[in-house]
Amino acid sequence: MTSAVDPDLLPLTSTSGPGGLAVGGVPLVELAGRFGTPLFVYDEEHLRHRCREALDAFGADRVAYASKAFLCTAMARLAHEEGLLLDVASGGELRVALRAGVPADRIVVHGNNKDVSELRAAAHAGVRHLVVDSFDEVHRIESLHREEGLPPVPVLLRVAPGVAAGAHEAIRTGGRDSKFGFGLADGTAAEAVRRVRRSPAMRFDGVHAHVGSQVLDPSELAAGAAAVARFAAGVGAAGLTVGGGLGVAYEGGQRVPTFAAWADAVRAAVHGAGWSGGVTVEPGRSITARAGLTLYRVGTVKHIEGVRTYVSVDGGMSDNLRPALYASRYEAFLPRCPGAPRPLRARLVGKHCESGDVIIDRAALPADLAVSDVLATPVTGAYGYAMASNYNKLPRPAVVFVRGGAARLVVRRETDEDLLRLDVTEPGAGETRTDGTALVAVAGAGSA
Ligand SMILES: Cc1ncc(COP(=O)(O)O)c(C=O)c1O
Repeated sequence: MTSAVDPDLLPLTSTSGPGGLAVGGVPLVELAGRFGTPLFVYDEEHLRHRCREALDAFGADRVAYASKAFLCTAMARLAHEEGLLLDVASGGELRVALRAGVPADRIVVHGNNKDVSELRAAAHAGVRHLVVDSFDEVHRIESLHREEGLPPVPVLLRVAPGVAAGAHEAIRTGGRDSKFGFGLADGTAAEAVRRVRRSPAMRFDGVHAHVGSQVLDPSELAAGAAAVARFAAGVGAAGLTVGGGLGVAYEGGQRVPTFAAWADAVRAAVHGAGWSGGVTVEPGRSITARAGLTLYRVGTVKHIEGVRTYVSVDGGMSDNLRPALYASRYEAFLPRCPGAPRPLRARLVGKHCESGDVIIDRAALPADLAVSDVLATPVTGAYGYAMASNYNKLPRPAVVFVRGGAARLVVRRETDEDLLRLDVTEPGAGETRTDGTALVAVAGAGSA
């Protein structure tokens, strides 16, 4: 394939002009110069458009944005402004959502091992739902109720419907052999419903399942939805949430279902299974993936005669772990010439100390690619920044939102100071004796 990058991989407001590709009216090369690289760039219009499309397909209060795909204060606010609920999967995600100003009754809390402090924080905040995942969590919630006088917590019960879907084993979650939820097949889900209904600590509001992620066939999502809907109808549940999972195109020419097609398939399946109520969904990837792209700067081009060409950029597996984790595939292009043919074949790699630090194994690139070029990988808006690390002590990239010709920084780039801020440089500093006094005196704080 030597053609130019498929426009269906680019954010919706992408335009080509003399300055190369612009998103949100701002040329990408200019953004790289202004904010540095690697840089995550999100098309704000695209994000908002996807939120609205999801709401149109499923209805008001029927869509929760799965914030694990990409979360920062600006993203939490955007999803809330567009009328979406927020799905969080840890105490940290909950904290970001609350500090962003998302009301607690718009937040649903997930996780297969929520500890006492996470449960306490969620219950005290008054979240819309806690999604209970195990009998151990039931016990923890009951202890909090007894010991701290918490009012009954509204809960959904997560079930493993015995249907797993998704692009890779690691992101298939709904099978019988899963760490998530109560099993339908072995009767633990039915037992959990009885248990929660009897408990003064909880209010049973419905059933939840999520079968997997990056699913390109809506009938697979519908099969999971049917299984959980049959169960929900059978136990007389009031609510039903069928998770996220809708896939996106990462390579040119891939066909992906629309939100409307997903909604039609799910509705038909749950009605066929005897469920007459509404259905809530939790899209993550399908909201943010295509809205975002990553800008890198090319650092070296190495041609090994008879073997291959390596193109190294200034990021890698610390800003996009998905190729190493799931063998995920991407494309690349040069924003200065987005319409250029891409006859060069090269392995696009990062700057980390391992050979597995590959972003694209056989990237198609323009023949005149050169050191210092700004290079873009599209469709990196989901599970990219969210999984970013400091491997090799690389600072995590900045994130900008672009819209109407303006760019705003929503997450700043990490600095050298950030890389050192957790290090304890004085032996014993930060450690305490059993009575709580400091082992090593902090300058100016008197002796301990
Ligand atoms: C419970 C739950 N809901 C929603 C999602 C979002 O999935 P996706 O990003 O595939 O839409 C996930 C992903 O892991 C999940 O675990």
